[in-house]
Amino acid sequence: MKTRERVGTVTAQTRADDPVVAARGFPRSFVFGVATSAYQIEGAHDADGKEPSIWDVFCAKPGAVEDGATGNVACDHYRRYRDDVAHMAALGVDAYRFSISWPRVLTNGSGVNAAGLDFYDRLVDTLLERGIRPFATLYHWDLPQSLQEMGGWTSSDTVDRFTEFARVVGARLGDRVRDWITINEPEVVAFVGHAHGRHAPGLRDPRQAIRVSHQLLLAHRSAAAAIRAEVRQARVGISLNLAPVHPASDAEEDVAAALRVDGYLNRWYLDPLSGRGYPSDMVAWYGGLLDAEAVSTMRGYQGDLDFLGINYYSRQVVRAAPAELLASQQVRVRDAAHTTMGWEVYPQGLSEVLQRVTRDYRPRAIYVTENGASYDDRPRQGRVSDPERTRYLAQHFAEAAQAISAGVPLEGYFVWSLMDNFEWNNGYTKRFGIVYVDYATQQRIDKGSARWYRDFLSARSRV
Ligand code: FCB
Repeated sequence: MKTRERVGTVTAQTRADDPVVAARGFPRSFVFGVATSAYQIEGAHDADGKEPSIWDVFCAKPGAVEDGATGNVACDHYRRYRDDVAHMAALGVDAYRFSISWPRVLTNGSGVNAAGLDFYDRLVDTLLERGIRPFATLYHWDLPQSLQEMGGWTSSDTVDRFTEFARVVGARLGDRVRDWITINEPEVVAFVGHAHGRHAPGLRDPRQAIRVSHQLLLAHRSAAAAIRAEVRQARVGISLNLAPVHPASDAEEDVAAALRVDGYLNRWYLDPLSGRGYPSDMVAWYGGLLDAEAVSTMRGYQGDLDFLGINYYSRQVVRAAPAELLASQQVRVRDAAHTTMGWEVYPQGLSEVLQRVTRDYRPRAIYVTENGASYDDRPRQGRVSDPERTRYLAQHFAEAAQAISAGVPLEGYFVWSLMDNFEWNNGYTKRFGIVYVDYATQQRIDKGSARWYRDFLSARSRV
């Protein structure tokens, strides 16, 4: 088994994989949870007045999603949420990060749909009954299609509508939900959706993508203010997908390419959110693709994060390559372990990112709002064994603990994901859950990693 290694003459479990040892690195106040998002788990795509989102429409395009799948049913969480919350409670998590489907809650992007909003009200109550702290994400990629038809995130009107959405949800849930994440992974929304066409809305226009990245930061800013106006003692953050970016060689052009990709992926969001405006090297690089007004608008923004959410999966290794937006290309690292997403397993990148962000930006608090791995383990005689995922989590937990001891203000950690779910353009072909989902029967089966997490969580009271 991979989780065992030989130490001298004894075969011992790897220290980091031992749940009791792993639990030692975290203060008792540390928040451990699981994360999901609405479109990936809820199903019930047209129930109770829900309107289509851009993902409902995108999934219907032939070839857009790998297995031709949709989120119409997904994990049927909209109907099974009580059981799913009970499952989380049985694992012993402190917190649950979920997202709120905008087209479920507002019709036409603005009129309140009471039945849809009620669902999140019940979900929050159910979580609180079980002692699980809710972390609500407002935008995890499911824009109302009606707003897309009016320009989507390229339109300023969408920013205003999003602010209204934040206000409505904050007013309804804010007496019970204190922790809010405005937007999940603006870089992915902007570029995978508007430049690479692999995510909804499926556009391929770098200029629009850059504009969308700007609009999303404006949307964060005004939604954060709306939440603070509605929710007493709100804590508002954003979730960024960050990664260390390493050059594939020492060659000057590869080093320069890595700096650009770092500017594109990390600094483009971290700098303005920390009150520094857009990084000047990237403003110069984008040149005419970027609206000059955007640069000056962002100079006036002070930054407002109560916490920074970081989604971490892997690092990027890049080399210079002509003809791309960033004149760079990602390189696959040979002789390294990869998940079924093709993502390199690189745990030390987590502490690298955490320490770099702490050193360069001094955030008040950080949460790892996503970390996890896709592997394809299936049930055998009713049990699912996923040693690679368990090992992945144990190694990343160890890096997080190390970062804390180095002074990183890390306060919590959410495993992606509670259960297997709809993995965007990969449909159901990729499984990130610590709980296995049999989509035909909707049966949930704990994987070995869920059992490990449960043992880890219960070990905390014993260390
Ligand atoms: C992140 C997304 C999340 C999930 C994981 C695997 O980029 O935020 O919804 O798809 O990747």
